[in-house]
Amino acid sequence: MASTGLFISFEGIDGAGKSSHIEALAEAFRAQGRAVVSTREPGGTPLAEKLRAMLLHDSMDALTEALLVFAGRRDHLRNVIEPALARGEVVLCDRFTDATFAYQGGGRGFDWNALSLLERLAQTGLALQPDLMREPDLTLWFDLAPAVAAERLAGARAPDRFEALDVAFFERVAQGYARRAAEAPNRFARLDAAQERERVWRQLQDVLARRGWLPAVGVTA
Ligand code: TMP
Repeated sequence: MASTGLFISFEGIDGAGKSSHIEALAEAFRAQGRAVVSTREPGGTPLAEKLRAMLLHDSMDALTEALLVFAGRRDHLRNVIEPALARGEVVLCDRFTDATFAYQGGGRGFDWNALSLLERLAQTGLALQPDLMREPDLTLWFDLAPAVAAERLAGARAPDRFEALDVAFFERVAQGYARRAAEAPNRFARLDAAQERERVWRQLQDVLARRGWLPAVGVTA
């Protein structure tokens, strides 16, 4: 059966717990016979992974951060995301452009309209329809209070440049996500990430089931 590609992004502040659900969702789609590409940003291609290493470890200002993430995103779209969607596959992406608005826009205070311009430049002219600006079909937003996320992260691993920032930074990042969600309410699905893992998974399944992309909740564990 020919299927339409599906592009789903996972968003939330560091420590919100999104990563553990990505593999579970990949399995759920594979159980439906769908091919799945599981990828991430910053990163996802050899070039974008090099840019990721710079972003996470080298000192730079917010515009440089934004230019690096959009450069990596363009390469990722051209070489991984667009080809997979053209093959009708499911693309699960651990963070995408909403993270740029949340971290560089909200967290760093970088100009929102400038980010919108970069978004349009980087995400247009890629697919069979050159005028289309590529965006996720669905964004799963793991919403968690920054203080709770900080407790979860404490001592987990050596922090990168972002994880080392204070709770006030993550409050601004969370506000950035809320602003993006308000701007695209049909694309965003907010999950209450304060709940225990199994309940978050149920919420996630419910969102997918309501869109007709997975069987109704209660069928899979
Ligand atoms: P990760 O640890 O979830 O892979 O993400 C790496 C960090 O990069 C995370 O703290 C968020 C940050 N980031 C940005 O600042 N801008 C972006 O556009 C993206 C995708 C991530």
